[in-house]
Amino acid sequence: MHTSNPDLIPEIIEILRSNNRVTVLTGAGISAESGVPTFRDAQTGLWSKFQPTELATPQAFRQNPKLVWEWYTWRREIIKKALPNPAHFALAEMEKLFPEFVLITQNVDRLHRIAGNERIIELHGDIFRTKCSVENIAVKDWPDKGDIPPLCPHCGGMLRPDVVWFGESLPARILEAAWEAASSCQVFLAIGTSSVVEPAASLPIVALHNSAVVIEINSQDTPLSGIANYSLKGAAGDILPRLVSGLNR
Ligand code: APR
Repeated sequence: MHTSNPDLIPEIIEILRSNNRVTVLTGAGISAESGVPTFRDAQTGLWSKFQPTELATPQAFRQNPKLVWEWYTWRREIIKKALPNPAHFALAEMEKLFPEFVLITQNVDRLHRIAGNERIIELHGDIFRTKCSVENIAVKDWPDKGDIPPLCPHCGGMLRPDVVWFGESLPARILEAAWEAASSCQVFLAIGTSSVVEPAASLPIVALHNSAVVIEINSQDTPLSGIANYSLKGAAGDILPRLVSGLNR
């Protein structure tokens, strides 16, 4: 394992250059520089007394659906104002440089899509999509009758954001696609994720077991840092553009 040394960047550029199949896993850290608070950051203002881990759960929605819906409304407002940062744009460029490139994200903010990535697996859904909490189907429009949360126009059940909450399973086909991308790649980059939430946290381990070179990019140590082949300490918005400019040279 190699850590934190910025001199490792040329070595990592060479590794990337000599491989075709690259899989990337991103977490909230990549959007932090766009102004989207990470899950483990303290919340601000009205929401400072709540822990995200206590709001993003099916139990919280059952107990206080209005509170959870309003928290998501607040988060959507922050995310709507956010723009992709240099880390997102670097990954969009990387997608064009490799014949097989898959981006797996735990983020629900659409910033990778806005930056231009096309092959994206959204593990935890999309905060701008809504689904029926009873029928589990996507709902695009509903009449505004002032209910919070609004009600499903088909069955009258409560609507909820189409995201994966703590304690919920990921859709099987999405998890299978992510597993396949982790097990078949030659290089795996884990960027801005605390590497504690399953099943995402297992994806770099799957890559390691299949002999990929695993490179972590994070501003802090995580449980992956000691296991990855390389662990680069720093901001994704600084390190990723340097990797891409080296690849373009
Ligand atoms: N560059 C790189 N890493 C960063 C940066 C940055 N600029 N800023 C923060 N980080 C790192 C932090 O050190 C931390 O390890 O990003 C990570 C963010 O961790 P979390 O907030 O736990 O986000 P994530 O790993 O995506 O959480 C996983 O858990 O909360 C649920 O469903 C939610 O998708 C989320 C999942």
